[in-house]
Amino acid sequence: MMPYILTEPQRAVYRRYAGLALPRHTSYPTAPVWQTDHGPAALRAALGRSAAARRPLSLYVHIPYCERLCYYCACTKEIVPPDRRRAHDPGESFLRALEIEADRFAAVVGPGEVQQVHLGGGSPTFLSPGQLERLWAILSGRFAIAAGAEIAVEVDPRITTHEHLRTLRGLGFNRVSLGVQDFAPAVQRAVNRVQPYEVVERLVGWCRTLGFESMNFDLIYGLPFQTVESLAASLAQTLALKPDRIAFYRLAVIPEIFRWQNVFKHTDLPAGDLPLELNVLAINTFLEAGYAFIGLDHFARPDEALARALREGSLHRTFQGMTTGKQLDVVGLGPSAITQLEDAFAQNVKASVVWQEAVTQDFATERGLTLGADDRLRRELMQQLYGHGAIDRHALETQFGIAFEDYFAAELGRLRELVDQGVVTADADAVRLTEPLGRLLARVVAAVFDRYLPPFAFRDGLPAHLSSKVG
Ligand SMILES: C[S@@+](CC[C@H](N)C(=O)[O-])C[C@H]1O[C@@H](n2cnc3c(N)ncnc32)[C@H](O)[C@@H]1O
Ligand code: SF4
Repeated sequence: MMPYILTEPQRAVYRRYAGLALPRHTSYPTAPVWQTDHGPAALRAALGRSAAARRPLSLYVHIPYCERLCYYCACTKEIVPPDRRRAHDPGESFLRALEIEADRFAAVVGPGEVQQVHLGGGSPTFLSPGQLERLWAILSGRFAIAAGAEIAVEVDPRITTHEHLRTLRGLGFNRVSLGVQDFAPAVQRAVNRVQPYEVVERLVGWCRTLGFESMNFDLIYGLPFQTVESLAASLAQTLALKPDRIAFYRLAVIPEIFRWQNVFKHTDLPAGDLPLELNVLAINTFLEAGYAFIGLDHFARPDEALARALREGSLHRTFQGMTTGKQLDVVGLGPSAITQLEDAFAQNVKASVVWQEAVTQDFATERGLTLGADDRLRRELMQQLYGHGAIDRHALETQFGIAFEDYFAAELGRLRELVDQGVVTADADAVRLTEPLGRLLARVVAAVFDRYLPPFAFRDGLPAHLSSKVG
């Protein structure tokens, strides 16, 4: 792949759209559209349909605890410092509730055929090795986890011990995702996450010796005090450790929701063209090192499953990022967890004490959505666009029985402005993101096809209701 170099006119187009608060479409329709009257009964019905169709499953378990707050964090978590934990360990009541919830799901979907398991959070290794063994017994005692399943865990290197990893590997875990974020000491101090390179290096060494098949690093750009020089150094340290996959996220700054982000001074955050410079630097560094660029913000070594999925057209975008499990229905367990089925979404309540109480009565569903035919069509369109950089008109026509030109006449009209600006090309076969500009502005193109966003005319300047919040 060619290096990403933007001309000055391309930069001007990028600047025009980069500040829009557009969704990243980790789901379509996006979570704000889901309804609070879509509760346990709707979930039960949707799970019944999934089971009747014998759709293979992915299990997601959300473990919401962390020992310390990272000031940038947008995840659903509860901070339990070690001294508070010594007085009362929340892992115990968590596991009791998880068992009840797993029973509820298994009663409807049966053991299923589980091809993926993902422990996320929060920090799964907040649980002790013994608690992780019990968690695994809860899952494997109720669900049929297929031989060769992808079994992944997110780990915070600061709190993950060799014993944690040995236990997880012994249970059959084969993938690890490390929260790295940035190696620069000044950045780490500013975000309250001091995590020296040596800590990550030691963890990587353990994972390799124990035989985990694949290792992912999460990195973030847009953090306080990041510069082109500091990021270049962090990227060099990243490459030295040879992760198989890298997620390179743009910092989501929404202090109205994540109020702890208010500690960041505006003047300390990368501004102007710097976030673009940081992104382009990382893309070019990873491409040059031989990684494949996948979706919006993922990279993978060419022999890795994700890169194979890109070549084979089987990429899937979920709340856990890009995955290979295109056909899987996701059962979400734990507070805030999202169940993602062929025709429905359902999210659990977020606060863990509320979730623990709720599962004793029924499913802990707080909101969700049953997808109509138009939702499913547009969801597939988004998957193609974000995963493969192109909307395959004929594939959609065949799969959904539509005439693309007629069905999307309004959207194709709105797209003309983006065609003129060199963001996309549109012909009889496909709507295709250009490289590099379109690829960097994929969310703008996706927004045109999101039926729930108020339609906006690009030509008349940026609409007020989409003013800059998330970059
Ligand atoms: C649940 S955490 C990973 C596991 C563990 N808690 C840790 O931090 O090491 C999920 C990932 O979300 C990303 N993340 C969290 N807050 C973010 C934000 N505001 N913007 C972009 N990415 C964010 C981080 O890269 C983080 O590693
Ligand atoms: S980034 Fe990870 S460790 Fe930090 S607060 Fe968020 S979930 Fe916890």
